[in-house]
Amino acid sequence: MESEKDLIGELQALEEEARRDVEAAEDPMELEGVRVRFLGRKEGRVSGILRRLGELPDHLRPSVGQEANRVKGVLQDLLAERERVLEREDGSGAGGEVDLTLPGRHAWIGGRHPVTRVVDEICEIFSSLGFTRARGPEAENEWYNFVALNTPLDHPAADEQDTLYLEGGYLLRSHTSPVQVRTMEQYQPPVRIVVPGMVYRRDTYDATHAPAFAQIEGLAVDEGITFVDFKATLAEFSRRFWGPGTQVRFRPSFFPFTEPSAEVDVKRLLVQPDGSRRESDWIEIMGAGMVDPAVLENAGYDSERYTGFAFGMGPGRIAMLKYGIPDIRHLYEGDVRFHRQFRGP
Ligand code: DAH
Repeated sequence: MESEKDLIGELQALEEEARRDVEAAEDPMELEGVRVRFLGRKEGRVSGILRRLGELPDHLRPSVGQEANRVKGVLQDLLAERERVLEREDGSGAGGEVDLTLPGRHAWIGGRHPVTRVVDEICEIFSSLGFTRARGPEAENEWYNFVALNTPLDHPAADEQDTLYLEGGYLLRSHTSPVQVRTMEQYQPPVRIVVPGMVYRRDTYDATHAPAFAQIEGLAVDEGITFVDFKATLAEFSRRFWGPGTQVRFRPSFFPFTEPSAEVDVKRLLVQPDGSRRESDWIEIMGAGMVDPAVLENAGYDSERYTGFAFGMGPGRIAMLKYGIPDIRHLYEGDVRFHRQFRGP
């Protein structure tokens, strides 16, 4: 008959042996072998002792039972711990370590870019006035970017200080106006287009300048288009875009490709948080004018027969005014904390 000491000693020896085997197990299969050897229901050596508790004399049962359960618990812990270690090693190699306890990554949701919003809104208004969208290349040549637009190459805009020149006589267009000429070459009047696109200038990147920015060009050419059509169309657009109560003024200006030329200013009616209304200052929102006959001729149109108006604006600047964006660089840096403010349709 076994004594209490024998059985407890045996359990402690089993514990030591199992401890060594667990440590020595190199992979999950081996570890499972250790578990079966000591804790397996049929052949496990610790389980065997537990199963035979009932055969022990009454006075031995409690102490041996307690010790067997303690060893069983210790082994279960050791096995679980070793299993975790082996799994981690198993996943070694590039990116293989998976810590399931780490909190998940936040799924940042941005929004439609404010400039995209403004471009779409402007194009939709012009679309309802009968204009369609057109496009043109960003790599241009001097003819389309300057000369055909009645801008001589010794004009300051054509200077290397302002324009980014490419090899082989090309340049990055400094405005969307070249698409006026390209479109007129391809289509006979009537032409009514809006042209959203990127333009490039040699500007330093700061709070109010960027070397690449968006513009929207507009052009309407047909028989009998007058200054009244020009003013009415742009005033209608301005009121629709900036809201009811907006005042519009046309200030004389100069552009080589329009004659006469104007800058269009708006004075907005702002609704304050407390519901009261306040007028904004006059803000300039576009350059415009009646298309210079020389430009029509350069595009192959008969300037005796056709007239038209053109305009150009910067949706980036407009987005900054509309949404109160203080620094143009927010439009370029893709910070999701900025963009999440422009969620929704
Ligand atoms: N192209 C001019 C610029 O980049 C903007 C502009 C002014 C476009 C008058 C026009 C226009 O079509 O008529 O500053």
